[in-house]
Order: sequence, then structure tokens, then C-alpha cells
Amino acid sequence: MLPKSNIVYFDMCGIVGYIGSRDAFPILVKGLKRLEYRGYDSAGVALLSETNQLNVYKVKGKVSGLEEYVEGKDISGTIGIAHTRWATHGEPSQTNAHPHLSASGQLALIHNGIIENYTVLKEKLQKKGYTFKSSTDTEVLIQLIGYIKESGNFDLLTAVRLALKEVIGAYAIAVIDKNNPDEVIVARKSSPLVIGIGENEFFIASDATPIIEYTDQVVYLEDEDIAILRRGEPLKVVDFSNVELNLEVKTTELNLGQLEKGGFPHFMLKEIIEQPDCLKDCMRGRLRVQENEVILSAIIDHKDQLIQAKRFIIIACGTSWHAGLIGRQLLENFCRIPVQVEYASEFRYSNPVVGEGDVVIAISQSGETADTLAAVELARQKGAFIYGICNAVGSSIPRSTHTGSYIHVGPEIGVASTKAFTGQVTVLALLALTLAQVKGTISGEELKEILKELEVLPEKMKKALDANEQIAFLSKIFTYAHNFIYLGRGYNYPVALEGALKLKEISYIHAEGYPAAEMKHGPIALIDAEMPVVVIATRNSLYEKLLSNVQEIKARKGRAIAIVSEGDKTISGIADYSIELPETLEALDPLITTIPLQLMAYHIAVCKGKDVDHNPGIWQSQ
Ligand code: M6R
Repeated sequence: MLPKSNIVYFDMCGIVGYIGSRDAFPILVKGLKRLEYRGYDSAGVALLSETNQLNVYKVKGKVSGLEEYVEGKDISGTIGIAHTRWATHGEPSQTNAHPHLSASGQLALIHNGIIENYTVLKEKLQKKGYTFKSSTDTEVLIQLIGYIKESGNFDLLTAVRLALKEVIGAYAIAVIDKNNPDEVIVARKSSPLVIGIGENEFFIASDATPIIEYTDQVVYLEDEDIAILRRGEPLKVVDFSNVELNLEVKTTELNLGQLEKGGFPHFMLKEIIEQPDCLKDCMRGRLRVQENEVILSAIIDHKDQLIQAKRFIIIACGTSWHAGLIGRQLLENFCRIPVQVEYASEFRYSNPVVGEGDVVIAISQSGETADTLAAVELARQKGAFIYGICNAVGSSIPRSTHTGSYIHVGPEIGVASTKAFTGQVTVLALLALTLAQVKGTISGEELKEILKELEVLPEKMKKALDANEQIAFLSKIFTYAHNFIYLGRGYNYPVALEGALKLKEISYIHAEGYPAAEMKHGPIALIDAEMPVVVIATRNSLYEKLLSNVQEIKARKGRAIAIVSEGDKTISGIADYSIELPETLEALDPLITTIPLQLMAYHIAVCKGKDVDHNPGIWQSQ
């Protein structure tokens, strides 16, 4: 069963806030610790002290480091906001950590999400003489609120309302004002925020985890809600036009264990289910459907190096390498640039022919994989231009590259890479489309068709996730299989490899991924009534070929599990089981077809009683 709709699905940073009669600091720190499961790289707190000082303390690193940092400092106050940051704009550092302050130092703000138009807003403020200490989008927002408040002589609520009207993007924010120790203003859009209602006190958090030990009465803010939390007054919520809204106070029945994983039994399932939201975050600000263009800011200053490249060499390990195989097809198809894909662990020891004129694309979720990092260093020394595609901001690989793009899917905590894979494929697609635009190797019509499809893909992913219950059922049937074969062709061949890797990694079942046509060159001998064969056979240019493959499997009495497009009758009619998925463009198919394979690996591992989120293998090879 998937969790109910009011459960938080996805967000990166952690927000905690408090206003009431208790000391705020211990509540805030405990709350941040409760949110540590989300992953973060820095932490900070802002407190309005008994003497009306606004004290802000921030550290790069752990919440425990923050506790050490404040030793001997003034942490008094019954109102405060606190934050754990997962870097999206600017490296992890004390300066970039939240809270951020307005120019006058009167206002402090914490923020989850991404302000898409922050460069435009920043330039506007710079023209008015504002300067910025950090590289964050968040500082731009608080400076904007401060500017509006001071120039219009508005109260904080009005300033926040007017500022948010100018903002494009996703946010959950909490703001305090040094001159008003009795009020916190919070707001949200596309980024979750929960308010806990206690006895003359309020708690704020990005999910209910930090709140439930104090109260079970919670309000989940809706998009574009602004909440006013004032001492001695009931909670009030208004919209952007200051019209008061009705509140729905809910009684939460969740316990702490459930909440840490957003109500899911495992991080892996949570991360699979998050993918539609991750996809949106990954494309946010990059996809401009109306203008028929893709903007990857990393490319702007390096266009020439990239389009004049004599070839691309993609280096990566594991799942990231599979994303690289899809990247090769995307780049070759759309940009007509030759691409080779190498295991970083082989590349680094192979005395590779690489040098000036080559562009190396390093793909890594963690940004810390030792082989990938070493391969990057080697290619760099030999004169190649390095482009990184990573998730963990400020990690070693992005720091070693000339430029690159983050996938922005949030921390991946489960050992099996899921949302990072779809994020990597998405960025590779955006990279291919950006370069194809510049090179003129794609027509305006074709580009439009792909961009429109990318825009609706999160919804299609959601539909693909509807197969969860069916897959959970199927997984029970196949739990006792000792071997699995996964077959795919074209864009879905790497998906077959990825499906097999997922199964091996978490269920400990031997599995092989193959390009479907290769089956007849030997592996077909393995197929008998004991062998489940997963065939990715969605409706595309290779459909007829895959139909023949399924017929061959059935001729050998193999058990065919077909991944097909909605409404398919032909292959579904032959296969033992079929899982229907929404149809998409062939080049984007992996973003949909990967989902049932992730779910199947997950459910089989659960049925086998395996520790889904961890494995004892060596993760970082040397
Ligand atoms: O962090 P990276 O993307 O560099 O990690 C590479 C592999 O270790 C990783 O993708 C691994 O294969 C996954 N855990 C598989 O699910």
C-alpha cells in the first residue's frame, strides 16, 4: 500500500521553527536531528533572544557541530527558526547555510526549494545597490522581502506576500523579524510545510517528524498559503491577496519511525515514489516549453568546447554507467557527436587515448565514487574538458570538473540508486537537446514535441507508479526464482541492465541484462520453465523485434513478464504477465520503463526479507 496523500513525498532541506513559551533552541535542534534522515550538508539557527537580539549561528556539517559551535553563546529565546541545507545553489559552506538575513539584518529566513528566477531578482536588487554574501537563491528572497518591507514601510506579512508574488519556483519558508518577537510568517509552494498547534505555542517543520512529540494537531499548508503564527492568537492562514482561508486541523496518527521515511516502509520505496517530483525539480527553470528552448546554465559559457568536441567520453560506475549508455544514444541521435561510454574503473587503468578536443562526461550520484573521481583526474591531466552530472552539490567530482549540471533530485539514502538514475537520464536528455539546438541538428518541430512530452512526463511517471500493487503481487510469485533475465533494445537495453542490477543488488537473485537480439547468440540456452524473463517491449520502432523475442521465450517455455504500452494486446496476449505503462517518445521511454523494474526489485527483496535500504557490499571501489 502506498501512503496516503497528506504524507510528504519529497523535499531536500529540513525546516524547523518554534514560537511559544519554552526555550526554542532545544526544540529546534531536536527537530533538526529528527530531519537528519533527509541528508544535509550544513545547519543553522536564528533565535530572537530575551534581550531582543537576533542571534544567527551556522555551521558546515552536522547538527551536532552546530551544538558545539553555540557552546558559551547566547541561545536564549522563545522564538526561532532552524534549517538543515542540502546545497542546490552554491557549495556547502557556513556562508551559504541558512538562515539568511535581509540587508539591514532585521529579518531572518529559512527556505526549502528552488527560486527559479533568482538571477533576475538578484540583478534587480543589485541595481538598487544591494550586495550579497552568499551564492544562494534564498538570500535573494530575504533581501527582496527586506527591500519591499523597508521601501514600502510594510509589515512583515505584507512584505512576504508581495515578494512571493514576484517569485517563480518552489519554496517553504519561515521568516522572523527582530522588531517583532511575537510573530513568525511562513509560506509554501510546491514544497511541504506543516504547522503543529500546541497550547499557546506553534511548531513549524518540513514534515511532521519534529512536531509529533509535542502535539498531534497539525495543519498541512497548501500551495500559496501564507500562515501567521502570533503569540496569544489562533493560527491564521491567508492567500496572496490577504484573504483569510479556512483551516483544516488534522490529528496525525503517524509514529516517528513511519515519518522518517515519509510514511514509507523503506527509503527505496520512498525514493521510487518521489520520482515524478524529482523530475519536476530536475527540469525546473531548464525547460522552456513556450519559448521552445532548453537552458542548461552550465553550457552557456562552454558552448564552443562542447559543440566542437571531436567526441564525448562518458565515464561512470554502476547505475550511473547505465544512465551513460542512454546518454550515448541521446547525444548521438540528437547531436550527431560520437560518444563512447566507459566504466570509470576500467578507464582509469587502461592508458586511455584521451586529450584535447575530447569532452568527458562524468556521471555520479554521490560525486565521491573513487574510480570516477580518479578517471576525471586522469582525463583532466591529459587535457580533456570535463562536464559533471552529479547529485551531491559541492562533492569531490563537481569540484574537479570544468562545468556541469546537478540533477537536483535530493539526497538518495537507499543503497539502490533509483531517483538518481532518472535524474541523470533527464539531465542527459536536456544536455543533448541543448547542444542539438545550438548545433542545429534538431528541427524546431522535433524539439517542440520532445519538450512538450518532457513537461507531461512527471504525470506519466505517476501513472506508471500505479502498477505498484500489481507488481507487489507479481513479486510474490517470483520471489523463489534463482535467476532472472532482463531483455530490452535500443533505449531500453540499458534499462534491462539497470533492472537486473537492481534485482541483484537488493534481492541477491542472480540476474542478467541483455540486448534482446543477443539472446539467440547463446543465452537462449538458459531459458526453460524455471526462468523468468522480463522483456521491455513498449510500442516503439523495435516493437516487432521484441514480439519475436517474446515468441522465442515462450517457445522455450520461459516465463515472460512483458513491460508493454497501455492497451497492448499482441505481446500481452503471448506473455505470462504484462505490466502496462503510459506511452511516451522512444527517446524518453527509459524514464517510464525503469519504474516497474525498480518496483519489482524492491518488492521481491521485501518478500525475501532482505534489508532493502542497505547492502553489505563495498560501495566505493578503490
Ligand atoms: O554515486 P555514484 O553514482 O558514482 O555511484 C556509482 C555506483 O556505485 C552506484 O550507481 C551503484 O551501482 C548503485 N548503488 C546501484 O543501485
